Amino acid sequence: MKKANYYITTPIYYVNDQPHIGHAYTTLACDVLARFKRLDGYNVLFATGTDEHGQKIQKSAQLSGLAPQDFTDKVSETFRELASVMNFSYDDFIRTTENRHVEACQFLWKKLEKNNQIYLGSYSGWYAIRDEAFYNDNEIKTLSNGQKIAPTGAEVHWVEEPSYFFRLSEWKDRLLKFYDENPNFLAPESRRNEVISFVKNGLQDLSVSRTSFTWGIQIPQDSKHVMYVWLDALTNYLTVAGYPNLSSPKFQQFWPADLHMVGKDIIRFHAVFWPAFLMAADLLPPKRVFAHGWWTNEGQKISKSLGNTINPLDLVQKFGVDQVRYFLLREVPFGQDGDFAVKSLIQRNNSDLANDFGNLVQRVSTMIYRECSKQIPQPETLQDQDLLIIKSATQLYSLLKKEYDQQAFHKGLEQTWNVVSQVNRYIDEQAPWNLKKVNKKRMETVLYTAAEAIRQIAILTQPIMPKSCNLILDQIGCKQNERTFKDLEISLKIGQNINSPIGIFPRIDTEDKKNDARR
Ligand code: MSP
Repeated sequence: MKKANYYITTPIYYVNDQPHIGHAYTTLACDVLARFKRLDGYNVLFATGTDEHGQKIQKSAQLSGLAPQDFTDKVSETFRELASVMNFSYDDFIRTTENRHVEACQFLWKKLEKNNQIYLGSYSGWYAIRDEAFYNDNEIKTLSNGQKIAPTGAEVHWVEEPSYFFRLSEWKDRLLKFYDENPNFLAPESRRNEVISFVKNGLQDLSVSRTSFTWGIQIPQDSKHVMYVWLDALTNYLTVAGYPNLSSPKFQQFWPADLHMVGKDIIRFHAVFWPAFLMAADLLPPKRVFAHGWWTNEGQKISKSLGNTINPLDLVQKFGVDQVRYFLLREVPFGQDGDFAVKSLIQRNNSDLANDFGNLVQRVSTMIYRECSKQIPQPETLQDQDLLIIKSATQLYSLLKKEYDQQAFHKGLEQTWNVVSQVNRYIDEQAPWNLKKVNKKRMETVLYTAAEAIRQIAILTQPIMPKSCNLILDQIGCKQNERTFKDLEISLKIGQNINSPIGIFPRIDTEDKKNDARR
């Protein structure tokens, strides 16, 4: 059977800043989905990268004393490092300064011109360099010191310059029809409503070129203009899929994209401008855009100026990569804002990972190692309570598929941990350490059942915690090449040797505990 395809993208990150927890969060969510789909037999294209043009980057380069290209080369590399430390399994890392991307953007521009979607005019209005966005008069607030700011808090400046415009105003009805016909296009629901009411209020033509600086992609046939950085940046999703080679197998396989994952701040660009640009160029819009929430740091907005950015590299070094990955997706319902607190991370680690999952694996594998000659034991006919455990583990696959297709990671993890708790309770009730003396065959059946449930849980949790789940699977003797979702159907091999048990999720001592110990 031909494999189904799945194309998932992160936003491409501005290189004016070092990677922080927000960037790690967006890419992590995509990484989990990419891994999930690969294990589920899909042919996956998972893309991330860096957004390197525009006034903001030009300014940052100037401040750093480097030429823009050297500056972007340097900072872009830090995003690759982040990906490697966080164990992100991207298939393509795109930089908007690459030739393939310049070609795609210029091709798209010509197509829009040909379709009479672009005209030359002049722009006068407010512009926020931080957001790389234009704002209307009625959106601007004046602070007591006279400074003008956009609703996002970014400072705006008055801009007057010749500019090409995209006929966005013509797309209102077609966009509304598109949202209506594609109820899954935009999630969560609250964001969808927000976007629909924005479009219903009417759209103005959008300035899509700038003439007051040069760091950008040149407009074909008019070298005085560079492309508006958001048109340039959004087009990366097409470039990765092989555009403008529309007939290439890659483009045919992967366009339209299945999911653009974005933060809530950039929803308008992805859910209004982007589908309009695409439809205007006779291309299909993406199937779905999901907007996740924002993290605060111990209750405070994260910002460079407050000096409270959270560096994911430090977190990983301190707590471990899988611990950080698990925490970020378990702690906060995906789609909502969340507060980052080290205390909560430690708590989650100690309760969910060390106490629940870790302990389960540890006690089952230790008993198999010691009491069953280091081999997966042969069970007797399974009793009802054993079958119930196997059934819960087996049902998890379809439950997770449903939750992950809605990007509800927290629910998927909750369901998984329900099964972990159920297996822990089963072990407590069956007490194989007592059975060892009175009914060895029954002890073997119980250990087999628990190990089989662990196998299924670990296979299904690989997308969230790839390293730890692979260690668990090694530990219970599950073969390397039998860890996809298709392999859920087979079961542990009886007589298979298991490794000497090691602790997978160590407890993290809290500062309070350490102090207690010192007293
Ligand atoms: N370059 C644009 C995207 C272009 S995509 C065609 C951009 N880049 S960004 O680097 O500023 O932001 C990238 C992502 O990081 C956004 O999805 C944003 O929501 C996310 N985050 C930035 N700070 C965040 C938090 N504090 N919390 C969670 N995510 C946040 O926008």
